[in-house]
Amino acid sequence: MGKQIVIEPITRIEGHGEVNISLNKDGKVSQAKFKVNEFRGFEKFCQGRMFWEMPVITTRICGICPVSHHLASAKAGDDLLGVDIPEIAKKLRELMMVASYFEDHALHFFILASPDFVIGPKSNPSRRNVVGIVKTNPDLALKAIRLRQIGQNIVKVVGGRAIHPVSAIPGGMSKPLSASDYYQLNYEIDEALNLAEEALEVGKVVIKKYKSLIETLAIEPTMHLGTVDEKGNLALYDGRIRLIDTKGKKVEEFEPKDYLDYLGEKTKNWTYLKFPYYLKAGFPQGIYRVGPLARLNVANSISTPRAAAELEEFKAISMGKPIQPTLYYHYARLIELLYATERAKELLGDKSLINEEVRVKVDRKGGEGIGAVEAPRGLLIHHYRADDMGALNKVNLIVATQNNNQAINQNVLEVAKKTLSGNKVTEGLCNQIEMSVRAYDPCLSCATHQLNKPLFKIQLYDAHGKCIDSIGG
Ligand code: MG
Ligand code: NI
Repeated sequence: MGKQIVIEPITRIEGHGEVNISLNKDGKVSQAKFKVNEFRGFEKFCQGRMFWEMPVITTRICGICPVSHHLASAKAGDDLLGVDIPEIAKKLRELMMVASYFEDHALHFFILASPDFVIGPKSNPSRRNVVGIVKTNPDLALKAIRLRQIGQNIVKVVGGRAIHPVSAIPGGMSKPLSASDYYQLNYEIDEALNLAEEALEVGKVVIKKYKSLIETLAIEPTMHLGTVDEKGNLALYDGRIRLIDTKGKKVEEFEPKDYLDYLGEKTKNWTYLKFPYYLKAGFPQGIYRVGPLARLNVANSISTPRAAAELEEFKAISMGKPIQPTLYYHYARLIELLYATERAKELLGDKSLINEEVRVKVDRKGGEGIGAVEAPRGLLIHHYRADDMGALNKVNLIVATQNNNQAINQNVLEVAKKTLSGNKVTEGLCNQIEMSVRAYDPCLSCATHQLNKPLFKIQLYDAHGKCIDSIGG
């Protein structure tokens, strides 16, 4: 019999997950799995709710990604109603979307990921954390917090609440942006842009320092999937979904509403997280990745000048091919952070943003609706079907972290084989496995809704310790 290594919980990610590694009798890694132990189940219990309630219900899936769920949900409602919302409403929603990137990408890089790079991947874990960052570089920590604050303020003003926004509704936005709010947001946006540029510069220094680790640790190629605009540029709020193969060739480009023709979801009996894949290639050959690295790999360019120049420099790493090393997610994330601030400034430069026409009149009806956005962690799809009263009888969510599930599992096995086979198992080596998971910035609360095969067992015992009933298992 071999040995089992369990890394539990994986630290500095959102939610509760673990890695299970099996070693054979020669000490070689034979199997490794990324397991998710929590369960949220929104696909199930939202059934019976009215579709127009969903933009405020689904923000509660997660305190990190509420803007993405809010907007995907409102878009699914627009689609179900068959309405085209006013241009200003689209711009306000996009502003909320890009602002959520300031908070989210800054949180991930500076608070969750940077301890591995700034303090060091094999450093003492008692210092390899956010407290270590604050002690080593307090100025950096304060800047990250300030950038998050500016983003959060935009979400609060445009979305009505900083954490769980409420303003996007099927048909548009429930409130326009006031002139005083417009000027207040404009007042802070240059600061955000400068902070994002500084963040990218700091990131590029540590990425260069760890180049050899980045380019050898988790490098197994996959396909990549992300949203692009009509020119093939990076798009976050709206666009077409593009899939490229491991060599960078475009395989598909489709409207989000046609996703079922292209994407399938596989389930396994040891995790609550599903495994989406490209249908025509089958599973696991059809696995793809989403999120910052995938988005930049599929995009021809970026519409804003500073981020576009950074993208050119980034793409030069691989001479035109998709960039595969997983730890490059960090670099891609910081380029997106810069784009998000530039795009917010561009949107806020438009005075028509205070126009009061932000919604169209809608009538109650039933039907089917699909809404998609690029959440900070990757493509997010909400798919609803409602009866004639508007009550939902089907809810399907494809959440960013689900899309990366199989790739994370493959990375965990790849890194475990490279670092642990025949070696003494140390915390530093195990942290390299965690780093390959952390690079994706997985959000597990967001992603665990599978209920067709209950994994858990609930047992009811009487006062004498006798099991009198049980379900599941
Ligand atoms: Mg689903
Ligand atoms: Ni989330």
